[in-house]
Amino acid sequence: MAEKEGVIRVKDLTVKYGQKPAISSVDLDVKEAGVTAFIGPSGCGKSTLLRAFNRMNDEIPTCSMSGQIEWRGKNLLSDDIDPVLLRRAVSMVFQKANVFPTSIYENVAFGLRIQGLKDKTELDAIIEESLNDAFLWDEVKDRMEEDAYSLSGGQQQRLCIARALATKPSILLMDEPTSALDPIATAKIEELIQVIKEKVTVIIVTHSMSQAARISDQTAFLYLGELIEAGPTKKIFSEPEKELTGQYITGRFG
Ligand SMILES: Nc1ncnc2c1ncn2[C@@H]1O[C@H](COP(=O)(O)OP(=O)(O)O)[C@@H](O)[C@H]1O
Ligand SMILES: [Mg+2]
Repeated sequence: MAEKEGVIRVKDLTVKYGQKPAISSVDLDVKEAGVTAFIGPSGCGKSTLLRAFNRMNDEIPTCSMSGQIEWRGKNLLSDDIDPVLLRRAVSMVFQKANVFPTSIYENVAFGLRIQGLKDKTELDAIIEESLNDAFLWDEVKDRMEEDAYSLSGGQQQRLCIARALATKPSILLMDEPTSALDPIATAKIEELIQVIKEKVTVIIVTHSMSQAARISDQTAFLYLGELIEAGPTKKIFSEPEKELTGQYITGRFG
């Protein structure tokens, strides 16, 4: 569980694909308390920055990273960090719900089984808690053995959130988790984020400025691979320091 006083400190982070930098020399403190949103026009490097936090960029063969991400006394980018173990503490939800071709129950049990948890009572309890946190329990509690694909798109995304929460991560990364969903399904996910943020640090990429304004406590604005400005969401949206930020949030480009 998040130590709510802390920060995740990104220092001089550069991420390249081949020779081409996608983000350059980013310095950013992400507070463990609350929700941080990454905003900026398409291609500015939001997903690339997000994927650095759990080393998902390692999975892209052409991708290389330099700099540091300091968290709880460790540099997450150093060679002695095991990305697989890191991803238990820093889990991720993607734009498109990636449910597995198995039952609703087994989708949530997935990470727990990999960790070797076999006790049925304990599994059941964690699965119920995770589905509750994902605002899905009431809708699925009587159909846990059904195929996950029988769920609606919005339910599938909440199932992915339940799966991501089941291993009790400290940080949850969300990459445009509602961009494929209708307004009602989107609202449910925005609401559940307001609840889970009490126990997990949420970092969310969104192309929707209204969503960032509604749900985040802190906002970081990126443009062409550079961090332009970061701070409390209220301040970024009402009195940004940089002219470029003001132009973006008032919809003059992007
Ligand atoms: N797997 C990849 N291989 C090569 N270039 C990539 C890859 N992913 C992203 N990029 C490039 O990196 C830059 C930032 O992309 P991305 O992080 O996806 O931005 P955003 O999420 O803000 O739209 C873009 O120029 C994009 O084309
Ligand atoms: Mg992206």
